[in-house]
Amino acid sequence: MALDVRAAAACVIGDVIGGHSLNQALPDRLNRVSKRDQGLLQQLCYGTLRQSPRLQAILGQLLEKPLRDKDRDLQGLLLCGLYQLDSTRVPDHAAVAATVGATQALKKHWAKGMTNAILRRYLREREQLSTMLDQAAAASHPPWLFRRILEQWPAAAATIIEANNQQPPMTLRVNDRRLSRQEYLGALQNQGIAATAEKLSPHAIRLAYPTNVWELPGFMAGDVSVQDEGAQMAAILLGADAGERILDACAAPGGKACHILELQPGLAELVAMDIDAVRLQKVSENLQRLGLEATLLTGDAAQPPAHLEPASFDRILLDAPCSASGVLRRHPDVKLLRRESDIAQMAVQQRSFLHGLWPLLKAGGTLLYATCSILDEENSQVVEGFLSEQKDAKLSCASMSWGMAAACGRQLLPLSDGPDGLFYALLRKTG
Ligand SMILES: C[S@@+](CC[C@H](N)C(=O)[O-])C[C@H]1O[C@@H](n2cnc3c(N)ncnc32)[C@H](O)[C@@H]1O
Repeated sequence: MALDVRAAAACVIGDVIGGHSLNQALPDRLNRVSKRDQGLLQQLCYGTLRQSPRLQAILGQLLEKPLRDKDRDLQGLLLCGLYQLDSTRVPDHAAVAATVGATQALKKHWAKGMTNAILRRYLREREQLSTMLDQAAAASHPPWLFRRILEQWPAAAATIIEANNQQPPMTLRVNDRRLSRQEYLGALQNQGIAATAEKLSPHAIRLAYPTNVWELPGFMAGDVSVQDEGAQMAAILLGADAGERILDACAAPGGKACHILELQPGLAELVAMDIDAVRLQKVSENLQRLGLEATLLTGDAAQPPAHLEPASFDRILLDAPCSASGVLRRHPDVKLLRRESDIAQMAVQQRSFLHGLWPLLKAGGTLLYATCSILDEENSQVVEGFLSEQKDAKLSCASMSWGMAAACGRQLLPLSDGPDGLFYALLRKTG
């Protein structure tokens, strides 16, 4: 029998509270609810997690004592109940009844009365409870991140926070090898799918409403891929020429690798490396759908496989693992999972990747360092530290006129109807 959708959401959110990512917690539950409820399950999980710092603070005020670790699913259910009362069109009485009903599916009959009482008290005292939140909780951000955003982006902080709390736009990348953006806009129009051309990337189209990819014309044939318009700037900045050998050092799931191949059909080779062999499988699937070819390699960017010869790549893309602070709206579980102490650790790792990959680059070659972070510690500070240690590395001031100038590169900030928050720095190896 299909799983109750609210109980499923409760389990997913409970798992994230327990330290699992949405990618780990959601797919199995998606398969266990009815087809009709799959969209609702995603909405409940993503929506609740986007607001989780605020909802957790409110729930803290409503609970007489904290719930036990083994009742994380119940905590997930209560957060999801509060989310529905605040942010969905489900009538209050129906949201309360369905949430109370889900205690049964969770086999927590004892929590029925408590769930009912908490949600009803919230309806009565909502305004008063909200006035008691601190600034970070009211803005639905963990306190350490809220502080850093205010410190590092004082003028843009309100815009960033607003964007982080919203559902992101669904953006497509048109496959230049197959058709033009104008032609694809026409194909969308013929199917009654509203969409507009984006300004930043010449291949980007924003859909007015998120759409199942299988309903997009030509998706299976490789006409388009789903990719944020800011992320599309990576392949454009890398600017690969015909005959070159390219390394994409952290390639999975392959969005940027495929774009590089779409833009330059005459490459000698693109090596798509990732440390995670399972995630590399996704690269393979994307290449196959788009009819592209690359050499797949499981390997560590800090210590690349020995058979990759020194000075053998013309260009390297390092799309480094990072805090994901620029893509919170797409990965709202990060609000619960990321710790302040992670940032310094990630910066050390990012720098070790730059050092590990640098010997593979030819003299005169370029390395594009990219993150989906808006934090200076992972961006300019990493590049600055690397430049101070690597004397044959120079910052290249390529024609990046978009976004905002950072000390050592260019920063895109997350915008409600615009790109994700991404950082790019181009480094050139001197002769
Ligand atoms: C931001 S994602 C890359 C996204 C990808 N470039 C794209 O556009 O689809 C970072 C990737 O780095 C990989 N990664 C993490 N540690 C790594 C390491 N030591 N060496 C190589 N890849 C690593 C992760 O598995 C993850 O797939």
